[in-house]
Amino acid sequence: MPTAPTLPALLPTYAPYPFPVVRGAGDRIFDDAGQAYWDFYGGHCVCATGHGHPAVVKAVADQAATLLFYSAAASLPVRDAAAAAITAFAGMDSVFFCNSGAEANENALKVALLLTGRAKLAAFEGGWHGRTMLALSVTDDPKITEPFAAHLTPCLRLPFGDLAALEAADFSDVAAVILEPIQSMAGIKTAPKAWFQALRAKCDAAGTLLIFDEIQTGMGRMGTPFAAQFYGIRPDLLTSAKGLASGVPMGAVLMTSAVASRLKPGDLGSTFGGGPLACAALLATVEVIESEGLMGCASAAAARLREELAGTAVTEVLGEGLLLGLRCARAAELKKHLLASKILVGGSGDPTVLRLMPPLNVSAEALDALIAAIQAFNP
Ligand SMILES: Cc1ncc(COP(=O)(O)O)c(C=O)c1O
Repeated sequence: MPTAPTLPALLPTYAPYPFPVVRGAGDRIFDDAGQAYWDFYGGHCVCATGHGHPAVVKAVADQAATLLFYSAAASLPVRDAAAAAITAFAGMDSVFFCNSGAEANENALKVALLLTGRAKLAAFEGGWHGRTMLALSVTDDPKITEPFAAHLTPCLRLPFGDLAALEAADFSDVAAVILEPIQSMAGIKTAPKAWFQALRAKCDAAGTLLIFDEIQTGMGRMGTPFAAQFYGIRPDLLTSAKGLASGVPMGAVLMTSAVASRLKPGDLGSTFGGGPLACAALLATVEVIESEGLMGCASAAAARLREELAGTAVTEVLGEGLLLGLRCARAAELKKHLLASKILVGGSGDPTVLRLMPPLNVSAEALDALIAAIQAFNP
């Protein structure tokens, strides 16, 4: 009988760094030989308060020792406090807690289908919203969507930031429009404020719910709590994950009272969603972002990068706050050069754009190292 090939115990899903990561501290991670790397990738935009922020670590450790878990069958003071903190921070009225970004988008889209009774969704070219079936339906990434094409919900796809295309679109049968306010994976694409205003008005006129996927743009990263405040737009639903609890897995669907008041117990649910450990981490995260002025730090770091990268191989700095794209004709070579300089950055769907999404409290030393390495890059 032919023997099955030997496969690693861990299913290979990503191409990992060429070293194992064993420890993190602030804006650095360390390999098993003690070598440090500046983390401008932020564990994929997750480590908002930095690796192992003492206030987050203490909150998680204290909570683990007090009550590691109880489901939504019980009311928990820490969950109520977390809900109050994140709704106030986001300027929304109610929150449903879940466990990941895809789960947050899946539930937000479900809510829109449920409340409108419509069967179609709308989203944008280049948008990336996750791998569950509704999230996949609105994601524009054929290599992960095409194998499931027969199972996806119909989605009207429009060009991002294009006012004429928006005005020409018919939303009369569209339950929800979902977008990343800054398209991250697409290569840090932004849209003008006037386009966001037109989108809000068009959704209002058509009875279509507007969903901001703020899984990357949120938690202070743009220099404001969420992109909603940055653009002065109040969506009907706003999803968060990644930096929400500084790396403890957590997702959130934030909503207006107009949406929340139409949902009844049993419409949404999750065993682990809003678990005490994640709620304690969320509370500490919001506290640290506000008390340590991390939104100001993000804006200041971005301003410094814009100024000091002028005249280098980086021809354009895209994005806002610390969700940045570095345009470089030889981006793949620059990424390799940075790795050799012990600096981690992200790639994107645009082969000429590298992404920076470091902790919001990235240090001057880390910025010095990144700027010096880019200045020394001579392709
Ligand atoms: C904008 C955006 N939405 C949704 C998701 C999905 O989040 P998760 O991987 O936590 O399911 C991601 C993940 O990268 C994302 O970047």
